[in-house]
Amino acid sequence: MDSENSPRFSDRFEFIPGENDLYSLLESFKRSGQDWIDLTISNPTKVGLVYPREAILHSLEKQESMEYDPDPKGTLEARKSIVSYYKEKGHTISEEDLFLTSSSSEAYSYLIKLLCNPGEEVLIPSPGYPLFEFLSLLDGVEFNSYQLDQSSGWKIDFENLNSKITNKTKILFLVSPNNPTGNILSLEEFEKLKTLAKTKRIALVLDEVFSDYLHEENRDQIDFFHTDFPVFVVNGISKILALPQMKLSWIHVGGPTSWKKECKERLEIIADTYLSVGTPIQLALPELFQWRNMIQSQVLRRIRRNLQVLESSYSSHPSIVYASPKGGWYAVLQSDSFLNDEEFCFRLLEKEKVLVHPGSMFGFEEDQGNIVISLIVETESFQSGLEKISTFL
Ligand SMILES: Cc1ncc(COP(=O)(O)O)c(C=O)c1O
Repeated sequence: MDSENSPRFSDRFEFIPGENDLYSLLESFKRSGQDWIDLTISNPTKVGLVYPREAILHSLEKQESMEYDPDPKGTLEARKSIVSYYKEKGHTISEEDLFLTSSSSEAYSYLIKLLCNPGEEVLIPSPGYPLFEFLSLLDGVEFNSYQLDQSSGWKIDFENLNSKITNKTKILFLVSPNNPTGNILSLEEFEKLKTLAKTKRIALVLDEVFSDYLHEENRDQIDFFHTDFPVFVVNGISKILALPQMKLSWIHVGGPTSWKKECKERLEIIADTYLSVGTPIQLALPELFQWRNMIQSQVLRRIRRNLQVLESSYSSHPSIVYASPKGGWYAVLQSDSFLNDEEFCFRLLEKEKVLVHPGSMFGFEEDQGNIVISLIVETESFQSGLEKISTFL
């Protein structure tokens, strides 16, 4: 069949960008066996962490895994173990308000299906997690970015946010600590969001996957779980247990009682349609949570060491500026020398064999000169990568 007679693809894919130069250069490195220092690596399974390997594998080997007994919300035991996780963090929630998904991306997709008609809108933070754009487009909704304000430590620019709300806006995505800026949502911001959510009938979706990775004390203990307006909290073991390959995340549903009931009925229909979370990981979850401190303490130690390296490398650098993130796995560096950011990243990789993310990938303006690096890279590589950036400048 020639392409003229083939079925047309969905318009969802109109956003597909061409292959960029940085990507092509990396591909050519791979083909020629050229090594590089990857300062973007945020896959925790590839940065030399020590996992309780035998215990994890043993937890997955349960007799009950041979039976299929699906519950659209996820097994009760798995949900109860999530309730215990929150209890340890000082939050009381009910297993009845939890829905398991295979990833946070899937959680977002469920929530867009739950709340949006095709063509309606979601609001995403900028700078922010690049996947929101793809997730929105793949689910047939439009996205609008709202700005975080650098001069106030990346707090929400409410004037800008208000100007982005239309009568089609249904969801406001929040990430705290944010990827990549590391800011944490304050009580003051949450209070303003509450007014906005109530008056504009917008649901808040809070991604708190980095909430166990704080680098300074969080004075605002906000209760996102008991609210009189719709708040969905998304989290999962990709970051909590640094096990993204196990594919288990969840949604907590919060809001006014009668609305919550209707909401859960609909969410259950979506979850029942996909039933995507594997039985072995659901059965293993209560045991896996026992390793939380062991795994997280390694990640936190790594991040703290890397932040020290960053501080000693760049705190008195004549042209590089950075603000220490309050939480999360990333740092943002700024310099006029990084202009234009994509070109800079290309030249850095070409000359020094160091890979960093251009800030524009996360919604930074191209003329701001930002790059983003991961803080969980092995410290030796992290240090030599930073040295090479200095040399290059
Ligand atoms: C903001 C944010 N949310 C969620 C995730 C994890 O996604 P998943 O649960 O789909 O692995 C990431 C991964 O980097 C992230 O940066």
